[in-house]
Amino acid sequence: MKRLAILTSGGDAPGMNATIRAVLNKAAHHDIEVVGVNYGFLGLVCKNFTSLDTEKVNSSISMGGTILYSSRYPEFAEKEIQLKAIENLKEANIDGLIVIGGRGSHHGALALSNLGFPTIGIPATIDNDIPGTEFTVGFDTAVNTVVSALDKIRDTANSHVRTFVIEVKGLRSGDLALWSGVAGGAESILIPEQELDLAHVASKIKQSVERKKKHCLIVLAEGVMSASELTTKLKEEGVLHIREVELGHVPRGGSPTPYDRVLASKAGAAAVNLFLEEKFGNCLCIQYNKLVPVSLKDALDIEKNFIDLSLYPLNSSISY
Ligand code: F6P
Repeated sequence: MKRLAILTSGGDAPGMNATIRAVLNKAAHHDIEVVGVNYGFLGLVCKNFTSLDTEKVNSSISMGGTILYSSRYPEFAEKEIQLKAIENLKEANIDGLIVIGGRGSHHGALALSNLGFPTIGIPATIDNDIPGTEFTVGFDTAVNTVVSALDKIRDTANSHVRTFVIEVKGLRSGDLALWSGVAGGAESILIPEQELDLAHVASKIKQSVERKKKHCLIVLAEGVMSASELTTKLKEEGVLHIREVELGHVPRGGSPTPYDRVLASKAGAAAVNLFLEEKFGNCLCIQYNKLVPVSLKDALDIEKNFIDLSLYPLNSSISY
């Protein structure tokens, strides 16, 4: 019987559990044993292997977080540590590894693959920051969470005629801010991919106040600056009646949306197929609306970017 290990790594994302479920159940149909690894790459190095309880996994499709736990483990960038992980996998008679996570985790998966261990990636992060895919598991849920917050904030902003700066996660990628901002009717969206023109943002707010507009929502990705920093700067530019909200880790949790559950299910099943076909060194990406295997190297190549930044000029053109 073949043995397949699975781990979740980096920032957790809603839908990771649905992914684990799909892998476990699909593998069962092919007589493959799935071994869980707790706490991501750290667990690989510490031999924190675990058996997966089918009952628990099947019940977790609606749960956020990850039943396999996760960790930040920057030391995994060191070759010596990667080799230790491979040694542990081989010692446990593991024939392949599925890594569920974001950009950093896919770099870890690529390193293992380059060292010859059969590895497959499933992009899952609220940041949607893996260039080779249009969507990652967890992103849709996070956008829904932010939009529902924006709708509530607009209510109170309208009542008090206020401007709100809403900070969302996204250190290198503004996709969460972009999608949430467009869907939530934000007046401005500030992302790390675009140069910030503070005077322009301030003047847009002041003009809208002059037109007697009752609210102004500025969605800010954390990679630009913090909400409190931006609020201070806007006050210095003469913007009055301004408040700030940092949504922080809130969109990381919660029950995954149907879209994320379906994407997780498709990707989990496809990963097991790749394992059966011995097509290693790939991850499952959405390209042109289809789930396709893409080499880990290409998926991480910023020159082959499938992230849609056209939402940025779109929002400027439809907000007033
Ligand atoms: O990986 C997703 C993410 O939420 C990023 O957007 C954010 O910068 C980071 O994780 C926060 O990391 P931590 O959960 O370790 O504080």
